[in-house]
Amino acid sequence: MSQATRAPATDSPKGSPAIRPPGGHRYRGNPDAVRALVQGDRIHRDLYVDREVFDLEMAHLFANTWVYVGHDSQVPETGDYYTTTIGNQPVIMVRGDDGAVHVVMNRCAHKGARLVSEVHGSAGKMFRCPYHAWAYKLNGELMGIPLKQGYQGTGLDACEAAKGLSRPAGVENYRGFVFAKLNPGGLSFRDYFGDSLSSIDNMVDRSPEGRLTVAGGVLRYMHDCNWKMFVENLNDAMHPMVAHESSAKVAKDLWARVGDKDAKPPMAIEQLSPFASSYRFFDDMGVRVWPNGHSHTGVKHSIHSGYSDIPGYEEQMIAAYGEERARAILGEARHNTVYYPTLTIKGAIQAIRVARPIGPDRTLLESWTFRLEGAPDELLRRTVMYTRLINAPTSVVGHDDLHCYRAIQEGLQAGGNEWISLHRNHRPDEPVDREGVENGTSEISMRNQYRAWAKFMIQDMAAQGEDREAAE
Ligand code: FES
Ligand SMILES: [Fe+2]
Repeated sequence: MSQATRAPATDSPKGSPAIRPPGGHRYRGNPDAVRALVQGDRIHRDLYVDREVFDLEMAHLFANTWVYVGHDSQVPETGDYYTTTIGNQPVIMVRGDDGAVHVVMNRCAHKGARLVSEVHGSAGKMFRCPYHAWAYKLNGELMGIPLKQGYQGTGLDACEAAKGLSRPAGVENYRGFVFAKLNPGGLSFRDYFGDSLSSIDNMVDRSPEGRLTVAGGVLRYMHDCNWKMFVENLNDAMHPMVAHESSAKVAKDLWARVGDKDAKPPMAIEQLSPFASSYRFFDDMGVRVWPNGHSHTGVKHSIHSGYSDIPGYEEQMIAAYGEERARAILGEARHNTVYYPTLTIKGAIQAIRVARPIGPDRTLLESWTFRLEGAPDELLRRTVMYTRLINAPTSVVGHDDLHCYRAIQEGLQAGGNEWISLHRNHRPDEPVDREGVENGTSEISMRNQYRAWAKFMIQDMAAQGEDREAAE
């Protein structure tokens, strides 16, 4: 797939997406129609509900961006693997015998069977296909085929099958976080993420040993909504005091009524109450955007800023980093960082959530929690409690959000208005594809995400169209 460079589709002229011709495609092969879905201050509903748009995202957005695969502590030993997806393509993350983490496509080079069916486990020294026993080294190279003489004099050696398992064009392990990009060309890992990597740095630096490990398993939570609703929500600072009134405000009011005013509130109250903070609080906390769709809320402070100190932790950090650096690390309390398109992290609480798109109205959300190596266990307890209270399928907060996503997914079936407003604090000179800090309740992070969406989609669609024309 070629990677022609085109001007980003940022503030495209007002217009309407194309009408679908009877029995035809509205968006496939039509970058102009895709471009018209994203306008400077509004987006079209087909971004959430249209099957064709979803399929195009899988082919163009997810194949040309750096997508989070997993954490290297999930595969500590040689042969350990974890299976997941990049967009809708099955992949295996595996620890090779060279000690490095590899990512290979979960597709046998022979007839295409999924090579590994378990979510995680150990492959030992090699992968062996369950169908005809083709064997592969851990890095994907073809190792052996039963009765190989049957291929002598055939064209096997010259075709893709002889190269072994297909691999993404790029794999990067950044401080334990493994990302891959399926297609060659395009932006390098560093150019794609740029200074947004400071949020991963801050989360990892919170370990006195500079190392995170996944703690326990993963909480998987199916959402019947489009994946982009969740990613937008992570930096939506206008919803907590409304959508979470029934959970967070109830907890806050309860403590105000029955709690001991002089006592430290229990951890659960400390975590729930800030969701019920004022508009002023969320506006003042600020939002920072970076190029390519990445952003974080909580520039000045966040809902995590007021947590009680954990005994002994600060001392450990000072011993590890020196006082000035330790205070700088702990002084950051970023709220949610979005690594577009699917990874979202909470550095201050050592938890991540990953969106796995399944269909236009179906998304699997994964919540992972991390242990800060060398830090007191109490920090892990705080992380686990946060995940249970806020993000788990059994949480009292996550359901508020899910209710709203469902409400959007259903409400968008109504006629009369095909557009979703992203006007809040929009101005013609706002940061576009460059770093900038704005007021926390601005919808700039969402506009930033959709600009990136349009840029990567249209660049690749246009390039493919040119390839097709050249071939004709
Ligand atoms: S499909 Fe894998 S060996 Fe035949
Ligand atoms: Fe929420």
